[in-house]
Amino acid sequence: MTQNITALILAAGKGTRMYSDKPKVLQTLLGETVLHYVYRAVEAVLGDRILTVVGHGADMVADLYPDKRDGFVMQEPQLGTGHAVQVSREALRAQGAEYCMVINGDTPLLTVEALEKLAARAGQADVAFLTITPKDMASFGRVVRNESGHVTAIVEAKDYDMSVHGPARGEVNAGIYLLRLDAMAPLLDELRNDNANGEYYVTDLVGLAVARKLRVEGVQCGDDVNLMGINSPRELVQAENTLRRRIVEGLLDSGVLIHNPDTVIIGPDVVVEPGAEIFGHCEIYGKSRVAAGARLGSYTYIRDASFAPGCVVREFSHIEGAEVREGAAVGPYARLRPGAICGANSRVGNFVEMKKAELCEGAKASHLTYLGDARVGAGANIGAGTITCNYDGKNKFHTEIGEGAFIGSNTALVAPVTVGRDALVGAGSTITKDVPDQGTAIARGRQTNLRRRLKKS
Ligand code: UD1
Ligand code: CA
Repeated sequence: MTQNITALILAAGKGTRMYSDKPKVLQTLLGETVLHYVYRAVEAVLGDRILTVVGHGADMVADLYPDKRDGFVMQEPQLGTGHAVQVSREALRAQGAEYCMVINGDTPLLTVEALEKLAARAGQADVAFLTITPKDMASFGRVVRNESGHVTAIVEAKDYDMSVHGPARGEVNAGIYLLRLDAMAPLLDELRNDNANGEYYVTDLVGLAVARKLRVEGVQCGDDVNLMGINSPRELVQAENTLRRRIVEGLLDSGVLIHNPDTVIIGPDVVVEPGAEIFGHCEIYGKSRVAAGARLGSYTYIRDASFAPGCVVREFSHIEGAEVREGAAVGPYARLRPGAICGANSRVGNFVEMKKAELCEGAKASHLTYLGDARVGAGANIGAGTITCNYDGKNKFHTEIGEGAFIGSNTALVAPVTVGRDALVGAGSTITKDVPDQGTAIARGRQTNLRRRLKKS
């Protein structure tokens, strides 16, 4: 049945009420864009039969979703939601679908269930749309029904006139519609912009369809907060909080130990296994994975990182694009950047920064160190203040440190350079030449002791 339906996601608007340079659909909740959520739910129901109407900030949307670009329809200028459907006619025809599911791109919490409920109206209705009955009707379009309960129109808040439309009943339009395209073709030509906003409204299709005695249905979804659009910073953070709570509660119920759960933020695509332990405040985003038996201390920020069983992240660490393996200990105050790998039972201490660098099994960098474009062999020890000088102003170079090597404190390793297996580097060295296996390298000025001259008092 759903093979007959193409999704049309409306994402061309500016989102004036967000006061932002970004298009509204690229605002984020828990680190993912509004559009990310919409795509995820729509894909689950309609697969890849998705067109996206873009306009304001289209380049930004294209950069983030290159795989969706083939399905982009340009709307320029943006003359309203009805206009967005009008400009998509060609693209919809090319898809050969019988129905089009029009979805406001600013509804991030929309659920698969609600979309399926609407998709099920295919074959039954010419125009169907989801309605909700929120506590506050806010700026939503009001659903007007006649005495027998049939929908007669959707009227925007600004255009609503009690004397004409009667008292509002609290039912509003969620902004998700199923349209039979053949039936809509003539109606799309009839849309007018003689309303408070001077825009072409998709919602006017409802009144036009009723006038033609087409089958029109308002599919009621009660007070489902998931179907609330986001128009302002307040509405965005309300949705974000709802989602945050839902994710954290779900993980608690599944067996993840989350201390101080009100202060923990976990993104929708993060995977946390039962038996992991998380201390708030803590933020975990992106495609992060936390295994059973991993412990994440408070005030940590994590994105796209993975944590194996038995590893510990101590407080105030910042971790992005890194892999922390079994039994490794990280922090407090560690900074792991993309490509950092902390091997099994390795140790990364305070004020250590790693980027594209691997500490192999049992290796240690306990204090004040920068490891970039480097590999540190198993069991090696990196003294405090060691720096891999990986960048000459133009290019990056690799540093290789052998198994069991010992790098004395305050050493500069000027890459490209290799320190051999079980080699020793004296503290304060600037190493510019390779050090052989089991070699000892000291590269610093010799100390001279002279007699101190004191003034006679
Ligand atoms: C719309 C509905 C309203 C409904 C509400 C639900 C209309 C006229 N009104 O109002 O009945 O209760 O959604 O959330 O549709 N967009 C375009 N091109 C445009 C204008 C908008 O692509 O020219 C996109 C926006 O980016 C947005 C979506 O359409 O994602 C909805 O537009 P918005 O301006 O937020 O409509 P609302 O005023 O919220
Ligand atoms: Ca909206």
